[in-house]
Amino acid sequence: MANSAIRSGVAFKTFAFLILVCTLDLFSGHIHYTIPEELELGAVVGNIAHDLGMNVPQLSARKLRLTSEAGGQYMKVNLDNGILSIRERIDREHVCGQTSVCTIPFEIILENPLALHRGEVEILDINDNSPTFRDSTIALQMSEAFAPGVRFRLDSAEDPDIGINTIAAYTIGSNEQFNLKTQRTEDGILIAELLLEKPLDRELQSSFRMTLTATDGGIPQRSGTAQILITVVDINDNPPVFDHEIYRGRIRENTLPGTLVMKVKAIDLDEGLNAELTYSFSKLSSARAHELFNLDPHTGEIRTAGELDFEEANSYSLDIQAVDHGLPAIIGHSKVLIAIIDANDNAPEIKLSSTTSNVPENAPPGTLITLINVIDRDSGENGRFRCEMPKNTPFRLRTSSKNYYEVITSGSLDRELVPEYEIPFVAWDLGSPSLSTNKTIQIVITDVNDNAPRFSETSYNVYVMENKAPGTSIFAVTATDPDLDQNSYVSYSFLENPIQDLPASNYLSINSLNGTIYALHSFDYENLKSFQIHVQARDAGVPPLSSSATLNVIILDQNDNPPVIISPSRQKGPAAMEILPQSVGQGYLITKIIAMDADSGQNARLSYHLQRSTDPSLFTLGQNSGELRTARPILESDTTSQTVVILVKDNGQPSLSSTLTIHITALENITERTTESSNFVANPEYFSDLNLYLIVIFGCTSVLFLVIIILLIGIKCKQDRKIIEEYNSPSCCYRVGDSRDTFHSRLAMEETLRYPGSGRVVSVPEAHRYSVCLSPESAKSDFLFLKPCAVPTSQANR
Ligand SMILES: *[C@@H]1O[C@H](CO)[C@@H](O)[C@H](O)[C@H]1NC(C)=O
Ligand SMILES: *[C@@H]1O[C@H](CO)[C@@H](O)[C@H](O)[C@H]1NC(C)=O
Repeated sequence: MANSAIRSGVAFKTFAFLILVCTLDLFSGHIHYTIPEELELGAVVGNIAHDLGMNVPQLSARKLRLTSEAGGQYMKVNLDNGILSIRERIDREHVCGQTSVCTIPFEIILENPLALHRGEVEILDINDNSPTFRDSTIALQMSEAFAPGVRFRLDSAEDPDIGINTIAAYTIGSNEQFNLKTQRTEDGILIAELLLEKPLDRELQSSFRMTLTATDGGIPQRSGTAQILITVVDINDNPPVFDHEIYRGRIRENTLPGTLVMKVKAIDLDEGLNAELTYSFSKLSSARAHELFNLDPHTGEIRTAGELDFEEANSYSLDIQAVDHGLPAIIGHSKVLIAIIDANDNAPEIKLSSTTSNVPENAPPGTLITLINVIDRDSGENGRFRCEMPKNTPFRLRTSSKNYYEVITSGSLDRELVPEYEIPFVAWDLGSPSLSTNKTIQIVITDVNDNAPRFSETSYNVYVMENKAPGTSIFAVTATDPDLDQNSYVSYSFLENPIQDLPASNYLSINSLNGTIYALHSFDYENLKSFQIHVQARDAGVPPLSSSATLNVIILDQNDNPPVIISPSRQKGPAAMEILPQSVGQGYLITKIIAMDADSGQNARLSYHLQRSTDPSLFTLGQNSGELRTARPILESDTTSQTVVILVKDNGQPSLSSTLTIHITALENITERTTESSNFVANPEYFSDLNLYLIVIFGCTSVLFLVIIILLIGIKCKQDRKIIEEYNSPSCCYRVGDSRDTFHSRLAMEETLRYPGSGRVVSVPEAHRYSVCLSPESAKSDFLFLKPCAVPTSQANR
């Protein structure tokens, strides 16, 4: 119902329009209708009957028909009322295209009589088409480098309508960047151009989208739109920019190579290759930094490439750059500061001013020995340290200044006790874990001459056989000095103390280097029995130190003196004479043999033997007493003149001996004076009394004798000393080596002193013999008696 009402409404309007435009071309018998296109089906085009001047019943009678192809297709005639109406919708654009006048011709055929009428229907355009664009989107690419004023032709829209119904204008949505210019070409087509008003910046706006509207001039107006899509094409107009002006990073030293330190990033506002970046170190960065760090060219990661050492550098400054791939490329710069964090990787270093230090042993406490410098290359607690030295040494540590320590003495030193110290010195740092270094300080104690050479004994007894050849070594002393080198070089010498008034160096010499002592002379026990000498050992220090020892030189006796027969004395040549009365009985003491031996001990123990006798039965000789007695009374038959040879020998090894020949003559007229003495011998008691008596007499004579001897020898010695002083030649009194001759000559002198004239005292030789043979001790006094000049001197020496 509603639909049909609307349709009837439309039909009415169309009809009104038809009234206005339809005109019947009656002039040429040619029917001409004008209708707008797009009329509804059944819409009236014209009244054929009326226009042909016929009435309606005639139409059927004359069989009116509408011919022509197009006319028949689009229109039909109603024979009941003669109205020509629309049979099919007529689209002017379809029927006529763009031709400006569009007509559809038709023919009407009538029969009875046959008549043909021509006609045409002009189709008027109505604005039934909107402008359309071929593509709904117009894509444009513009370089951001384009300058304002550049125009871009836009695709035109199409509108099949003609005249004012076709496209009359283009518009775009308002925007600041672009403007639209239109112009009509010679063939009347309107074209539109996009005008760039302001410079483009892709980085500000990379694309634009706007609507292009094409409008026609019809009523009502129709329009069509298309989207303009403008893409701004990038040019490399932006540098890469790092997100930090300075990057600051920290990393511990000794981290493994390859550890990530940080990541840098640069941004390039451009796009594509222009924004594709490559990172690198710039040439401003140090070569060492290049070695230690790697910068990944793509990711911007900075990693360690080597071993970092805080002690080498505590920070690194790297200049980095980012290069885009545009043409030309643009470079962006930045800076990276990498701080190295210290780790306790350095033990303290100990530097000694010298590995070995010398200090004299007499250095007072507080003497500086060596200076130690301790350095820890770490920082903070890792670089602080403490030092230690063992306490049980005579050294201690003193802080001198920062990082310097002095080793000083704190006690007394003795090289002879400890010649060298090896002292460990340890330095610990305060890091955790703590690191330590230890070094040994070698301290050598240098020698000071503080020890005198020391002999093994304070005194030595040296036994020397007499008669040894001069130059033989008799002893060696050794003194040791615990000091070192020069301070321990010992030299030996004799301290000057005279022996028998002569300097010791006359008797002995000492090898100053090894203390071997040599005799310069052969000693004569009979002359010198012992003496003392002081040996000094002296070192070579400065000043030198010395000590001394006493050498008791004791001369040992050798059997070098044969017995000397003193009594009876030889009178005629080599033989002695004895006279005895012929009447004597058995046991008569003819004489007493007195012999002396200058040696001592066994060497001076004498024994007497009857070596030969003209009548061996007549005499006996006391082996110990030396008394020559008659063995039996002298008979008439015996010859008056007898000869005996007496041998006196000592008990030395080998023994020495002397012989004496005695001629004994027996006379008749001689009184028997000495008979009593034979009685004395027979009575021992009486003998001892007599002995005492004889000793007293002997003592008196001896003293007297001694005084005279001393006087005489004294005079002689004075003379001798003068000679020594003048010629430096040994005198009789001082000759040690060859004293035998002097001894003999002195004996001769003594004899003359003792026995002046021919008057002989028998008791004197008795006492002599007793004294000589009794014991070695008494021999000493005997010797003293015999050598009045030499012995007192040697005794004074002791
Ligand atoms: C010092 O070093 C030695 C060997 O290098 C070691 O035996 C000793 O224990 C160390 N002393 C200290 C206190 O570290
Ligand atoms: C001392 O030196 C001398 C000479 O060089 C040598 O003959 C002697 O044997 C040495 N004595 C000792 C005890 O070494």
